[in-house]
Amino acid sequence: MIDNPFTPVFGGKPDSFFGRKELLARFDRALEVRGSDDRSLFLTGTRGSGKTALLEQLSMRAVASGWRAIDIGAEQALQALHRELAGYDEVTETVSPSLEVKVLGSGGSVSGKSTARTTRYEMADLASLLRKAAEKEKKGLFVSVDEIQKVPREEVASLCEAFQMASRKGLDVILTVAGLPFSYEAIIHQDGCTFMRQSVHEPLGLLDVEEVQEAYRASFDKIERLEVRQDAFGRLVHLSSGHPYMMQLLGYQLIEQVARRDSREIVVDKAVVEAVAPAALDSYERRALRPLLGELSERERAYLRAMAQVADNSLLSSTGSVAEHMGKTAQQVAPARQSLIDKGIIVSAGYGLVRFGVPYLRAYMAKPSEEEANLAQLEAWGI
Ligand SMILES: Nc1ncnc2c1ncn2[C@@H]1O[C@H](COP(=O)(O)OP(=O)(O)O)[C@@H](O)[C@H]1O
Ligand SMILES: [Mg+2]
Repeated sequence: MIDNPFTPVFGGKPDSFFGRKELLARFDRALEVRGSDDRSLFLTGTRGSGKTALLEQLSMRAVASGWRAIDIGAEQALQALHRELAGYDEVTETVSPSLEVKVLGSGGSVSGKSTARTTRYEMADLASLLRKAAEKEKKGLFVSVDEIQKVPREEVASLCEAFQMASRKGLDVILTVAGLPFSYEAIIHQDGCTFMRQSVHEPLGLLDVEEVQEAYRASFDKIERLEVRQDAFGRLVHLSSGHPYMMQLLGYQLIEQVARRDSREIVVDKAVVEAVAPAALDSYERRALRPLLGELSERERAYLRAMAQVADNSLLSSTGSVAEHMGKTAQQVAPARQSLIDKGIIVSAGYGLVRFGVPYLRAYMAKPSEEEANLAQLEAWGI
């Protein structure tokens, strides 16, 4: 049996990481050079574009270079960061590591006082905690914050202020945040977030053809007996649409399909790729598209369905036709359109035109909903 190098677990950490080489190289450089702009990075992308996977990579690289890495999610982000940093603070050095940290809002009055097991902090304490922690690190301190669009604004401001202060003191700190596309503009214009305005904004789009080819080649090279014919390879690259999760799924299905063959050489031709594509697409729809739609409002989903119906041959939809198809005025549907653009799900393609920004979403939205399919079946059987 062959070891499958692909790991299509959505949201899980992939065994092999594809593309983004230029950014990774810049990050490696930032780990060495204090003056690098890349010491503050703002990754944005639609759901499933690979933000979390990239944060993991950066974190791993930081650790490999001797940095301390702290990775936090949106849920009680500041509290989590305080907890990680607290071990360095004089007040808490003696306190049990399982201490409970309570971060008070600006209205809070107790600060840095330990009782038996509870230490209370104000958000303003973050700056000094961070500074002390960074001073004690040999190489530096890397902090990543995922889903930044969900972090309350005052927490983001505290985070910015703390990093601003630490950088000003010449300490080795890197802050990398990731969020949905609209979060960048929202945060850089927020009070107290000048620090983010100087960050490098890295929108994560689809991988380009060369990146996909290189990634697939590297993965296939790990399997000795495997030969992927040129037309099969081309088809595979095309079907991936440069979406890293679709790449994982297609690769995984392909290898599973041929893994049991015990011939000396395993030859993959185009027919094999065509045979596994539906299973890959099915998983992609269930694990990537369906949750993406689940996070949207009914109005936004209705907008996408209408867009799929009125799309022309070049896959563009006129915003006027979308509204008309929905039986609404352009003004009535404008908020849904804007919010879909802000989330990176659709893209404005010139005046009065939009197109889908996520692979395979158009076809998915054109399909009858489960309810419709159900009704059609009942009708067909005369039930
Ligand atoms: N650069 C990449 N290389 C390999 N797999 C990736 C890459 N980016 C994303 N993936 C795959 O896609 C899945 C979804 O990516 P994720 O980082 O969770 O997206 P996001 O955080 O933007 O919603 C991951 O679990 C992983 O399997
Ligand atoms: Mg994520």
